[in-house]
Amino acid sequence: MKITAPLRIIALILSLLTLSFSSGCASNYVNITEDELGSKFTNDPSPSDSATEDTEATDNTDAPDEDDGGETAPEQPEIPDSPRAPLYTDSLSISRAAASEGMVLLKNEDGALPLTYDDKVAVIGDGVNKLVGGGGGSGSMPVATVSLLNGMKTKHSEEKIQLNAELAVAYGKDYNYAPSQDDLKRAVETSDKIVYTITRSAGEGSDRTAQEGDYYLSRNEISTLKSLVDLGAEEIIVVLNVGGVIDTTRLLAYPQVKAILLAWQPGQYGGDAIADVLVGDVNPSGKLVDTFAKSYDDYPSSENFSESGGYVNYTEDIFVGYRYFETFDPGYDKVNFEFGFGLSYTEFEYSNEKFDIVDGKIEVSVRVTNVGDVTGMESVQLYFSAPQGLLGKTAKQLCGFAKTYGLAPGDSQTLRMSVDIADLASYDDVGKVKKSAYVLEEGEYDFFIGSSVKNVSLVGTYLNNDTVIVEQLSEQLPARLLEKRLLADGTYENVYSDYQIEPLTSRSDRECASKPSEKIYFDELYESPELMDSFLAQLTPEQLIRLCYGQTASLAGGTGAIGDCFEYSIPKIETADGPAGLRITDAGTAFPIGTLLACSWSSELLAKVGEEIAKEAKEKGVDIWLAPALNIHRDVLCGRNFEYYSEDPYLTGMLASAITTAVQEGGVGVCIKHFVGNEKEVNRNSSDSRMSERALREIYLRPFQIAIEEADPWMIMSSYNLVNGVETAESYSLLTEILRNEWGYEGVVCTDWNNNTELYRELLAGNDVKMPTANAANAISAYNNGTLTRAVLEDHAERILKLIMKLNKTLYSRNTIEISSEESTTFKSVDFSYTNGGGQEKCEDIDGTLNTTYNDAGREIFYTINVNRSGSYQLKVRIASPEGKGAFDIYADDVLVGAFRNTESTGDWQVWKESSEVLTLTLAEGEHILKLRFTENGMNFNTLTFTPID
Ligand code: BGC
Repeated sequence: MKITAPLRIIALILSLLTLSFSSGCASNYVNITEDELGSKFTNDPSPSDSATEDTEATDNTDAPDEDDGGETAPEQPEIPDSPRAPLYTDSLSISRAAASEGMVLLKNEDGALPLTYDDKVAVIGDGVNKLVGGGGGSGSMPVATVSLLNGMKTKHSEEKIQLNAELAVAYGKDYNYAPSQDDLKRAVETSDKIVYTITRSAGEGSDRTAQEGDYYLSRNEISTLKSLVDLGAEEIIVVLNVGGVIDTTRLLAYPQVKAILLAWQPGQYGGDAIADVLVGDVNPSGKLVDTFAKSYDDYPSSENFSESGGYVNYTEDIFVGYRYFETFDPGYDKVNFEFGFGLSYTEFEYSNEKFDIVDGKIEVSVRVTNVGDVTGMESVQLYFSAPQGLLGKTAKQLCGFAKTYGLAPGDSQTLRMSVDIADLASYDDVGKVKKSAYVLEEGEYDFFIGSSVKNVSLVGTYLNNDTVIVEQLSEQLPARLLEKRLLADGTYENVYSDYQIEPLTSRSDRECASKPSEKIYFDELYESPELMDSFLAQLTPEQLIRLCYGQTASLAGGTGAIGDCFEYSIPKIETADGPAGLRITDAGTAFPIGTLLACSWSSELLAKVGEEIAKEAKEKGVDIWLAPALNIHRDVLCGRNFEYYSEDPYLTGMLASAITTAVQEGGVGVCIKHFVGNEKEVNRNSSDSRMSERALREIYLRPFQIAIEEADPWMIMSSYNLVNGVETAESYSLLTEILRNEWGYEGVVCTDWNNNTELYRELLAGNDVKMPTANAANAISAYNNGTLTRAVLEDHAERILKLIMKLNKTLYSRNTIEISSEESTTFKSVDFSYTNGGGQEKCEDIDGTLNTTYNDAGREIFYTINVNRSGSYQLKVRIASPEGKGAFDIYADDVLVGAFRNTESTGDWQVWKESSEVLTLTLAEGEHILKLRFTENGMNFNTLTFTPID
C-alpha cells in the first residue's frame, strides 16, 4: 500500500498509542492474526474469546521501534476482518447492487458525503460488527452479513478513505467492542468524520414500540452523539441500519450530524453496499416509500395501533401515510422527510413536461437532465389530486413513477408514465353517489410531477365533465364494527353496516364427471388436459381432501409441500420463504429487505432480483416462493414492515408485479401474501382489522389487485387475521366474491402457516390449501354429512393440479442417474425422483451435501437409474445410525430385489460410515425405477454406490 503523508501521521500516532498500551494503558491498538480471531465465518463469536485476546495482546511485533524517530515509515496496522466476515464476496452481486440502490440519503450538508481519500474516518456503533442484514422470523435469512467494518476496510485498502485504524482494529478483534469515552476522544481528535451506525432489529410475531431504543433513539445512542459533539466532532455521518421508520427529529437536532444515510437492512453484502454509497462508488438514488414524521404521535394510526390485542380500528380510513399528511398537514409541520424524498450526489433538472389524454389514458413525459458532476439515477413521481366531490379525496395519490438509467453529467433521458383514467375513481361504500361502485366524480383532476410528494409541479389537468360509474360491484366485507372513519374535511363519520354474513355453504357450478373406465395418471394430463374432469372423478374424497392440505417437505428447511398422491402419480411441489431470498437449509443469497428494494423505485431492479431468485430456486428445488409480501405500512411500528414495501398501495402493487413476473418467467411460482389486512403482528391470529370497505378496497386490497392484473401470481396466501369480524381464510366474500368473481383470479389460495381456522370452512370459502398440514377429519365429516360437496372439492383439486402443471412437475421429475458399467457410481440419497415424507438436512461431513433424514418405516424413496450394460452390481450405502437400526427393502420396477438389514451403529446421527452390508442386484440394460422402502426407523443416509461385478 502507498504510504502517504497523512497515513504516516496516523501510523505515528498509532505507534505512540501502542507504546502506551505496552506500558499498561488500555488501548486496543494491536496486530492480531486470524488465528487469534478464530474463524472468519463464525456467526456468533463468544465474547470470552475476545476477552482473552485483550489480555494476551500485549506484544505488537509489527510496531515500529520506540527510537525509530520516524526515519522509516511505520507500517499501518493490519485491520482484522470483523468476525462476521462475508461467506463470499462478489462485487457484481445483484444483492449488493440492489442494496446500494435502495439506500436513501436523507441529509448531506457541507459535502460530508461522499467520503474521499482526504477524509480520516472513524466508524463506530453496533453496525460496525453487528450489521443487521435483515429482519427476523420467516422473512429472515440464515446467511452471514458482511459487516460495515469489512466494507470500510476494503475501501481503506483501495485507498478511497483513511480509516481510523485504532478503532477499526479494536472492532476487528472484539465483536462486542464499544468505544470508551477515551476512545471516542481520540477518535474525534484524529478523525475528520465520524460514521455512527444505529441499528434496529424487528421480526415476525411482535410489533415495535414507540419507546427509546426502538422507534426513538436509546439513551446510549443519545449520549454517544452528545459525547461526540461535546468532544468537538464537527462532521458526524449517521448510518441508519433499520428495518422500519425510526425517529429522525433527535438526529436533526444536532447540526454536527451533517449526513444521514438510511441504509435499511441491506442483506448479505450490506457492509460492502453501505461502504459503496459512503465513498461514492455508488451514487445514492433511493427515495422514501414512507413518510418520516416529526414524532410517532403525528401518524394518525398511532392512536389505535396498540389500542387492543383483539382488534385494530383503521379509523384513519384512506388517509394512510403521505395521503394523510398531504391532506391535513400541507405546511409539512409534522414531517421531517416526505414520501418520495431522497438526495443524490448530483442534481437533476426536469424539462419538456408533456401531458396528453389518449384513449382513456393520461400520458405524461418529462426530460430529466443530470446537471451535476457525477453520474446518477433519478426517480420521477406522478401524483394526481381528485376533486373532493361527494366522496372526499386525499390531497394527492401516486399514480406513476419511472427511473432513469445512470445519467452521466450533462446527459438527459425522457421518462414516460401512463395512467388509466378509470384508475382515478374512488370507491363509494355507503352510497353518497352510487353504493358499492367505483365512481369518477366530475371536476378537475390535477396531475403533478416531481422528485417527491412535496417537490412537485403541476403538469396538466384532466377535466371530467360528468360523474361516471366506472364499475358497479357489490357490498363485500363492510365495516360492521368500526365506529368511525376520518373524512377529508377532518371530521369523522359512522360507517356502521348491518350487513349479514351469509353462512358458508357449498357453492360450485361444476358438474362432476363419471369415473373413467381406465386409470388415468397425472402425467397424462400434460398431453391431454381435457382429461382433467375424468382424472378428478377417479380420486376418492379422501384423496381430494388430501390435496387440500400441505404435505411433508422433501426440501431441507422448506416450509412444506403440496400435492403428493402416489397412486395417481401426482407429484409434490415444494414451498419456501421469502421475501429476502430462499430461506432453506441450503439457503440462497440474502437480498435486502423488501422496504429497501422498494426505495429503489425501480421495477427493473425488482425484476433483476426476481430473476436471481428464480435461478436459485430452480437449482435448489424450490417450486413456490412465499413472497413478495404486500401488506401496507399502515403504522410504522408493525414488526413485519421490513418485509413489506410501502405505505402506498400503487407503488407496492407495481413493484410486487415486477418481481412476480420475473420469478414466474424463471419457471418458479410466486405466492403473494398476506391477503389481507395483516398490518399488525401482536395477536395476529385473532386480531380483527376493522376498516371501511373503501379503505379495504382502495388501500389494502389494491396492491394485490394490481399484482393479479399485472403479473398473475400463481398463489396467494390468506392472512392470519380477521377483517371486519371474518377470518380471511374463511371469507367467501374475500376469497371467492372479490378475488375470483370480481378479479377473475384462477390461481391457488393457501392459508398462512398453522392458522386457527377450520379446513372445511376454508374450503367452503374458497381457500384451496391449508398449510403446512391439517387434521382432515372435520373436512371428511363435512363431506359425509353433505356440507362439503364433491364439486367443491374437485374445484379446489383442479386448481392445485393446474398449479403443479404450471411448474411442469411429474412424479419422477428429477435426475436420471447414469450407472457406469466400468467403474463405481456414487450418487446422493437426495437425488431421488420422488419420496413420500421424510426429510433432508445438511450432512455435516461433506461440504454442501444433504442427507435424507427421518427415514422412518413406511418412507419410500425412488431413484430413476439408467444402466448401460446388463449385469450384476453391488450396492453400498453410506449411513449414520446411532443404534444400528434402519432397515429397508429394495425394489427394481416394483419387484422386490433385496433387503438391507442394518445392524451397525455409527455412533450418532451425523457420524457417517459406508455400510459393510452389501446388496447384489442384477439389472437389465435400460432405465429402472429403484425403490427403497424403509421397514424400520433409525437411520440417516447420504449416498448410494453401485459397483459393477464383472
Ligand atoms: C408467515 C408467512 C410465512 C409462513 C411460512 C408464517 O408464519 O406469516 O409469511 O410464509 O410462516 O414460513
